[in-house]
Amino acid sequence: MTFRETLTEKVKQAFIKAGYDEAYGLVTVSNRPDLCQYQCNGALPLAKVYKKKPMDIAEEIASHLKDDEVFKSVIACPPGFLNISVSDKALTDYINYMQTAEKFGFEETEEKKTAIIDYGGANVAKSLHVGHLRSAIIGESVKRILRFSGHNAIGDVHLGDWGLQMGIVISGIIEQFGIPKLQTEEQREKNITISVLEKTYPAKSKEAKENEEVMAECKRLTKELQKGEGIYFDIWKTVLKVSKADLKRNYQRLGVNFELWYGESDTRNVTGPMIEDLKQRGFAHMDDGALVIDIAEETDNPPLPPFILEKSDGAILYSTTDLATILQRQDEFDPGLILYIVDNRQGTHFKQLFRTAEKTGLKSPKAELFFAGFGTMNGADGKPYKTREGGVMRLEDLLNTLESEALKKVQAAITSGEISDEEMNHIAHIVGIGAVKFADLSNHRSKDYVFDIDKFCSFDGKTGPYIQYSAVRIASILRKLDIKNKDILQPEGDIQRELFLFLTEFPYAVRQSAEDYAPNTLAEYIYQLAVLLNRYYHEYKVLAEQDETKKASRASTLSLAYNLLSCLLDLLGIEIPERM
Ligand code: ARG
Repeated sequence: MTFRETLTEKVKQAFIKAGYDEAYGLVTVSNRPDLCQYQCNGALPLAKVYKKKPMDIAEEIASHLKDDEVFKSVIACPPGFLNISVSDKALTDYINYMQTAEKFGFEETEEKKTAIIDYGGANVAKSLHVGHLRSAIIGESVKRILRFSGHNAIGDVHLGDWGLQMGIVISGIIEQFGIPKLQTEEQREKNITISVLEKTYPAKSKEAKENEEVMAECKRLTKELQKGEGIYFDIWKTVLKVSKADLKRNYQRLGVNFELWYGESDTRNVTGPMIEDLKQRGFAHMDDGALVIDIAEETDNPPLPPFILEKSDGAILYSTTDLATILQRQDEFDPGLILYIVDNRQGTHFKQLFRTAEKTGLKSPKAELFFAGFGTMNGADGKPYKTREGGVMRLEDLLNTLESEALKKVQAAITSGEISDEEMNHIAHIVGIGAVKFADLSNHRSKDYVFDIDKFCSFDGKTGPYIQYSAVRIASILRKLDIKNKDILQPEGDIQRELFLFLTEFPYAVRQSAEDYAPNTLAEYIYQLAVLLNRYYHEYKVLAEQDETKKASRASTLSLAYNLLSCLLDLLGIEIPERM
């Protein structure tokens, strides 16, 4: 139970004792911290039910609680609020419990699920771009939060490796080397390098857009590839291998890890039988040469377009592989949840997908499908962030920019002591990545935000570097102390009391973020915690304190708060550098 839940429990007992429904006994954090720490507003709605004065009820409840040592005061206030403050002893007991309890006393959810988190969504042979950044950052954090909450969360990168872009790349590669030079695996691995791939897709795709014949050839190759054998398939295998290694390097740089490296192509044995089954059961029919499923319902506004299974040339598409992926995931993991962390602009696709899966009975009753869409990262002009030339910004370039900005800041901050270039760069890396992650996660995922590197990398304000800097300073104090996790004494003053109260509230931030699949509530909590911690250690010096018991208690307080801070930062995927 959280500290607040233990209070609710007591207040509920008082409602019962007074002969009322306990459901009204909910305790919340006070919105008047100048008057009290917590409040319960249950007497107001209850008064209507029992046709009594709310103030009478509030007083009655207060009288049942007045002898409880947990409370410092429970006061009925007009028109019928209960203003509650707790005793320092009760609060401190809970803080000491947090110090030793696993996960700081956080209780895992009772409904544990296997959750497949579909995030990352990189496309093979195409560079990662800023659009993939948000999926990676949010998905990784949501995965960690769900795991912390007790779920079996499994991340799947769901590579885009089976669509038209593959036909485009294969066509470009054949053009450069000729099929005779792509016969053996050795030849292929020699010729198809990452720099070849990086150039091939943009060039060929531009050509295909401008020239119908080229496009037709790319489509033909896509279809040939989808047969799953032959020379095109062999070329594709090498492309996949080279591309995957490069993607892994990029994701590693971001601190993002996938349990599964499946792709659209891994459904290739599922799609055929699935389509056959959908035809047989009368769901799929031909429409203008394409094989589709009608899914519109009367209540739709606007009506959902039909779900396309096969194009007129017989090639399958993004929609087909996504539907088959549901089957495959159900088959392998029997999940309670499949969560898609994908750009809001794909919202309609997912509506169609979920409707189709539901309507055709392909979705298992147990599996919930949820689209956790995210907004766009915009430039200062309010349009999706681009390069200076107006092209798509490669993720690698963006990260380079962030890290060099962070390097400037870090170099200016670290002025004393020996430090190697390597260490300096490593710190800049942690700070630069932390900066963009915090900036991204501090907004609700569904919102757009503006990429503002100055703001993101600033050591002041609501930023990643501010929090990291706070953590580093506390860590450096802690290193000079011999922490024995001694008993924490009752708060020495208001700031410490406030810190204690705030520490007990962290489970709500985690829960809220887990429920919404949106880490912003947690990010906000972390920021507030850093602010409070800064106030605390300015007010209560630890190193200089003469009284050993006080010193040990302050040190343990700092240590608990620091451990919690670093644990929660880890749920955002943000690291703390050694120094800053
Ligand atoms: N590869 C896709 C893209 O770049 C994202 C994939 C998202 N996941 C999915 N199951 N459709 O847009």
